[in-house]
Amino acid sequence: MGSFDSAVSHDEFFKTLAEKSDGGKLRGDYSRADAQYVVQQDMAQYTPEQQALWRRLYERQARLLPGRACDLFIESLAALDASSEIPNFDRTSDALEKATGWRLVAVPGLVPDQTFFEHLAARRFPVTVWLREPHEFDYIVEPDVFHDFFGHVPLLFNPIVADYLQQYGQGGLKALKLGGLKNLARLYWYTIEFGLIESPQGLRVYGAGILSSGGEIEYSLSSKDPRRIGFNAERVMRTQYKIDSYQETYFVIRDFQQLFDETAPDFTPVYERLSQLDDYPANTLLTGEVDLGSS
Ligand code: PHE
Ligand code: CO
Repeated sequence: MGSFDSAVSHDEFFKTLAEKSDGGKLRGDYSRADAQYVVQQDMAQYTPEQQALWRRLYERQARLLPGRACDLFIESLAALDASSEIPNFDRTSDALEKATGWRLVAVPGLVPDQTFFEHLAARRFPVTVWLREPHEFDYIVEPDVFHDFFGHVPLLFNPIVADYLQQYGQGGLKALKLGGLKNLARLYWYTIEFGLIESPQGLRVYGAGILSSGGEIEYSLSSKDPRRIGFNAERVMRTQYKIDSYQETYFVIRDFQQLFDETAPDFTPVYERLSQLDDYPANTLLTGEVDLGSS
């Protein structure tokens, strides 16, 4: 399972998670995780009720995709054939490895930043094993298997996104040393989780946080309220984000190559610069910036 070079203290991790999770309590069972927080995905643990809940989540969400999700996502998702049951990560990994050299690893839930970056840098995507409860159908605090798999895995089949995410992992390990984590994390948030992309037919969604949400997928494209601004890496890294409501700003890329190219330069001087500057609130529209409007 790769290298076990990280020694992230569990105590430290659970302390910092108090901020990210529901009152600091984590849902997953971390007792059987290895040093990289990897667990076995036990297919037998999923009950028929959970499989039925997966199907309901999948059906609702798949119906919302045409005309809203980017084509690449829709095509890759269909090829995954995951509509009828919670997918077996090993089986998906075999197909994924052939396409882009990535594999999925099962995790109990959120993992420490350093561990997360180490997985990405080694082309391993951590996917949470557990599924939300029925009363969390529309909203869940921590990522579950539906968000992680449905939202994230399809785009891992795209070579440019696959490379971008690996570079992001490497950049994360660097940011930890340079004190740039806050700025770098915003890139992940505003692209991989909440990104919009141009298409000849209009704006489309590629961010997993939107694609796995019953409400935000329509809101992000059609509501008059949020700003939709052309992507600029440094602008994104300066911008705060909302974790408990729909986003107030979405950043729009022209294509995945733009995302890759704009984040390829060394961020060392960028972190240095941004540390001297104030953050932008999530709802900022700067002079000269164009709101691309709703579709
Ligand atoms: N180029 C960035 C750096 O030098 C790393 C990075 C790559 C960050 C891709 C985000 C996405 O730190
Ligand atoms: Co996510």
